[in-house]
Amino acid sequence: MEFWVAVTLTLFITEGWQQCSSFKSPQQNHRPHIVFIMADDLGWNDVGFHGSNQIPTPNIDALAYSGVILNQYYVTAICTPSRSALMTGKYPIHTGMQHTVLYGAEPRGLPLTEKLLPQYLKELGYATHIVGKWHLGSYHKEYTPTYRGFDSHLGYWTGHHDYNDHTAVESPYWGLDMRRGMEPAWDLHGQYSTDIFTKEAVRLIKTHNASKPLFLYMAHAAVHSGNPYNPLPAPDEVVAKFGSITDYNRRRFAGVLHKLDESVGKVVQALQEAGLLHNSVVVFTTDNGGPAAGFNINAASNWPLRGVKNTLWEGGVRGAGLLWSPLIHRPGRVSTQLFHITDWLPTLYAAAGGDVGHLGEIDGMNAWMTLLEDLPSNRTSVLHNIDDIYGNAALTVGDWKIVKGTTYGGMWDSWYGPSGRGETAGQKYDMYQVMASLAGRAVARVGTPLTPTIIQTLRNEAEVICDSLSMYAHAERLECKPLIAPCLFNIRNDPCEQNNLADMYPETLQLLEVSINEINATAVPPSNLAWDPRADPRFWDHTWTNFGDYSILNSAVS
Ligand SMILES: *[C@@H]1O[C@H](CO)[C@@H](O)[C@H](O)[C@H]1NC(C)=O
Ligand SMILES: *[C@@H]1O[C@H](CO)[C@@H](O)[C@H](O)[C@H]1NC(C)=O
Ligand SMILES: *[C@@H]1O[C@H](CO)[C@@H](O)[C@H](O)[C@H]1NC(C)=O
Repeated sequence: MEFWVAVTLTLFITEGWQQCSSFKSPQQNHRPHIVFIMADDLGWNDVGFHGSNQIPTPNIDALAYSGVILNQYYVTAICTPSRSALMTGKYPIHTGMQHTVLYGAEPRGLPLTEKLLPQYLKELGYATHIVGKWHLGSYHKEYTPTYRGFDSHLGYWTGHHDYNDHTAVESPYWGLDMRRGMEPAWDLHGQYSTDIFTKEAVRLIKTHNASKPLFLYMAHAAVHSGNPYNPLPAPDEVVAKFGSITDYNRRRFAGVLHKLDESVGKVVQALQEAGLLHNSVVVFTTDNGGPAAGFNINAASNWPLRGVKNTLWEGGVRGAGLLWSPLIHRPGRVSTQLFHITDWLPTLYAAAGGDVGHLGEIDGMNAWMTLLEDLPSNRTSVLHNIDDIYGNAALTVGDWKIVKGTTYGGMWDSWYGPSGRGETAGQKYDMYQVMASLAGRAVARVGTPLTPTIIQTLRNEAEVICDSLSMYAHAERLECKPLIAPCLFNIRNDPCEQNNLADMYPETLQLLEVSINEINATAVPPSNLAWDPRADPRFWDHTWTNFGDYSILNSAVS
């Protein structure tokens, strides 16, 4: 009895929804295809649309200017916590993933009690695929992507790998980390990771039956550093295009980023050629702030924001991100609505026509209507993290942000370049390159074409400027020493966190401290574990594997 009531209701809701949509536009009859492109370790200032002229990202920029630029967009400070937040819609303190990353030899993973984004979308009829990085656990097969809601996976399980030999060094361990589903993919040796993932994404798009909605999660290796023996792997002929960049590491970084941007163009073009683009939602985002100035043997830029990856300064948590879709009303906007990475799960679930009331207790908020219609956001605060092992925490409420403690003893608490604002001859932003890019041409076919005026206006609006005319320039700068006392910043007036207002606004500081304590009371302990020697790839044909599923080697290890 109850079953039939439910079926009838579902049919009614589905049809009602479709009728309502078809009223607006015949293109919206079906649940939209969702393509979620995640860059790894891309900094705030590594995309052209935030104002840097140094490394062109014309395809990413074309999506940004013809969609919505998410300019008050927060991710978490490092890989595993960020991906756990994306997949569950929960703050990492609520899943035990709040402290550093998950290492390949740790016998843990994102708890199996969590229901993940692809599982939710699968229930709505989606085909679900992941291409690239997982980083949420693999010591038992049940933790790996094809057991957690994805129909297929071509990619890797740990936090990084070499882009050519696909091995991951987590010293002293070293092994292959590239798979199709559960099978090691030795045959891909010598092919460049970004090209492999692009080819696979294009193949999935081109062979997709459009009568079914598609969810493609494309989690790039780029622009994360590779192994220490080749930290910034990019093809030499690509690096050679960036001869004007004098810093050797930044020049190699440019090569890695160029390949990432090219991939975005090829994927969007494939969506258009397959006839899916007019009914697609495309997200492009970083997972965390950029590792700048040699941090993690990399050369990203978060300028002018403070700090780097794995710090709770804006440079660690304010992310480069955008949403593109023909479903967006009045596209070509810079969004200042607060948005957190945990919001993607409910937001995309709503975009897919799901009822967010079914998502249970999560921290994410549905911002689909907020972004679609440019409405005020329901989100007023973001917990950046509470990590009692590092001893740091940060919370934003409205314009205010509290920063308690820091990482690395404060070594990475400064501001790092390059600014990319044309200090080198020949650096000029090329708007025609954006319009003529693969993505630029593809999106022009399903929406309003870009113009130089639109590009210039949005680019100016999206740039963060901490100029010398700020209200603080005349006063003495108030230094923050987060290891000694909590700091307070007004992020709206001071996005670069240069002026610690803790002494000036003690009541505000106290309110934020109380809030942190309240949220902290809901935290679960971090789940980090000691490395298990059975994980050593030497025991498993030199591959990283689901070592917890086998016991035969116990004697060999001890
Ligand atoms: C796509 O799927 C629909 C529904 O299952 C089916 O009727 C159709 O034949 C499929 N098209 C192709 C080209 O396979
Ligand atoms: C904000 O939340 C309220 C209550 O859940 C909801 O009715 C409203 O639609 C939300 N606003 C937006 C823009 O989503
Ligand atoms: C959070 O709560 C734990 C356990 O009660 C405590 O040890 C820790 O100091 C608290 N952290 C913060 C940042 O308040």
